[in-house]
Amino acid sequence: MRLAFTSGELSLAGMRASALAADFGTPLYCYDEQTLRQRCRSLKSLVSLENFQVYYSAKANGSVALLKIIQSEGLLADAMSPGELLAATEAGYDPKDLLFVSNNVSTEIFGEIAQAGVVKCCVDSLGQLSRWLKARPGGRAVLRINPAQGAGHHQKVVTAGKVKFGIDPALIPEAITQAQALGGEVKGLMVHIGSLFLDPEPWLKAVDWLLAIAEQYPQIDYIDFGGGMGIPYDRSQEAEFPVAVFGQALEARLTAWMDKTGRRPTFAIEPGRFVVAESGVCLIQVQSVKINQGTSFTGTNLGFNFLIRPEMYGAYHEILAATKAGEGSSTNVVGNICESGDYLGKDRNLPALEEGDLLVVRDTGAYGFSMASNYTGMGRPAEVLIGLDGQARLIRRRESPEQLLQNQIY
Ligand SMILES: Cc1ncc(COP(=O)(O)O)c(C=O)c1O
Repeated sequence: MRLAFTSGELSLAGMRASALAADFGTPLYCYDEQTLRQRCRSLKSLVSLENFQVYYSAKANGSVALLKIIQSEGLLADAMSPGELLAATEAGYDPKDLLFVSNNVSTEIFGEIAQAGVVKCCVDSLGQLSRWLKARPGGRAVLRINPAQGAGHHQKVVTAGKVKFGIDPALIPEAITQAQALGGEVKGLMVHIGSLFLDPEPWLKAVDWLLAIAEQYPQIDYIDFGGGMGIPYDRSQEAEFPVAVFGQALEARLTAWMDKTGRRPTFAIEPGRFVVAESGVCLIQVQSVKINQGTSFTGTNLGFNFLIRPEMYGAYHEILAATKAGEGSSTNVVGNICESGDYLGKDRNLPALEEGDLLVVRDTGAYGFSMASNYTGMGRPAEVLIGLDGQARLIRRRESPEQLLQNQIY
């Protein structure tokens, strides 16, 4: 999101924060189309090989308006539920171009996605492989392999080693035989080491590891290295993920592998966060300012039901005053949920704030709205997209209390 402080107020992609709040209310998830398109383009040009594809991982943000932009920039998409699949097809994706990434999926859901036209499904157990191929006779499967070594910003998002994900590489021959017995074929291998790393080395190690495995299986024509590339949430402490360096190192490996094996499979990555995180912010309002037991608290209308990353992972999001400037002092920015762990940011330096002031929580484009819930009976926030024309457009209405009741029977 392009942010600028002009005339005593923060503007978001050219729109005044106070105007956005007045027009759409708060909390408000806001996205910048320009930033999103730039991110898509940096990934499209990551590797110059024709047989390299980027799948956007829709779990990071499944809003259809954003998926439409991502699709128009030429990124493919992956989905992990019928809901994400529907959102992607609504955005214009053809199901046959999507990758369905399964984890403990029911027979019914495999049937549903096969019916919807999905042809490429990534499975992460032999049981799931068999269910998928029964749902789609003669189909192709991608095996998610557990690389033993992972990476990520928190133990909860490291997806390798003693975790629920992936198939032990020793089971690949058995999986191939099983698929053949069901009239299908194992055509792909995938690995995803975890989420949010800024050092490309562990990922490149996993690339080498998967390429070495793929070398042993000539029928493999799809090799997917997963996602996980991070963004520097704390810009004062962290550097950006070195996209160009990673791209060059990846391309060199893929080229060397093709030269060595004489094979030309499709190579893929599946980033989510990197595509959308920095295009989004959450605009929120200060509801109370107080000192409790000698500690300063700034109470806002953004609880962990709408942005769970700080509570769930101890994650850092930069918080900016949108309608106040000047020297600051330390305060704890908290939400409006009935739990003491409901912190947005501890010990933040912010100008003297008053009730009604607006704040911006940065980098909430990924795993912000998509992880929001209705805990405490609150309707989830609205979302707006600030387009290339500089206009803000509502892309998701704020949920009403009545909508929260609509599935209840009483
Ligand atoms: C299989 C798979 N691929 C891709 C991703 C996207 O990860 P990230 O948003 O960190 O790039 C995830 C995230 O959990 C995942 O589970």
